[in-house]
Amino acid sequence: MLMKKARIAVFVSGGGTNLQALIDAQKNGIINNGEIVLVVASNREAYAIERAKNAGIEAVAVVKKECNDQLDFENKVIDLLTERKIDLIVLAGFMTILTEHFTSKYPERIINVHPALIPSFCGKGYYGLRVHEEALKYGVKVTGATVHFVNEIPDGGKIIMQKAVYIEDGDTAQVLQKRVMEQAEWIILPQAVEKVSAEIIKAL
Ligand code: GAR
Repeated sequence: MLMKKARIAVFVSGGGTNLQALIDAQKNGIINNGEIVLVVASNREAYAIERAKNAGIEAVAVVKKECNDQLDFENKVIDLLTERKIDLIVLAGFMTILTEHFTSKYPERIINVHPALIPSFCGKGYYGLRVHEEALKYGVKVTGATVHFVNEIPDGGKIIMQKAVYIEDGDTAQVLQKRVMEQAEWIILPQAVEKVSAEIIKAL
């Protein structure tokens, strides 16, 4: 009998290394209760679109600047998700704000990976390299990554998984970003996706 799987949409904006980690995890069985069926990109140049295509996954760009306003943008994305019968949304380096209009439609069905240990270096304005610059500026000796549910508060939803990463002498933001990805994000994001997918399947 064919096993039922949670239908996953991954939202991306840039390089898509976290998307790649998810694709690889699906190939090697770490993700088994879910299947990535759609990639939504916030810009047409995102390299993540190539990664999706190479893996045979449908990729659609929905660009906010091309929409009438935030509401129109969110409604277009909601329509797409409804059409594709998406069960779980994974924000993997998605840099466009989603308001309560969107998040309230998917309670505990949107997860995000953040490149720090929430509640440190998170919230409005903390994204990408900026997070690591702030961690280095503050002088913390341990940072890491967090996977959490998304609600209307930026980086404020329930934490699903975290993993710590040591900061080393002489680290630059770029060096630290790469270490946090390798040692934390690319490991806990697939694990969290599998955990939530399994819960969704159980509830069906
Ligand atoms: C990742 O480090 C991710 O944690 C971060 O953006 C990067 C995207 O890289 N996300 C945020 O800062 C969200 N607040 P990727 O496109 O190679 O996966």
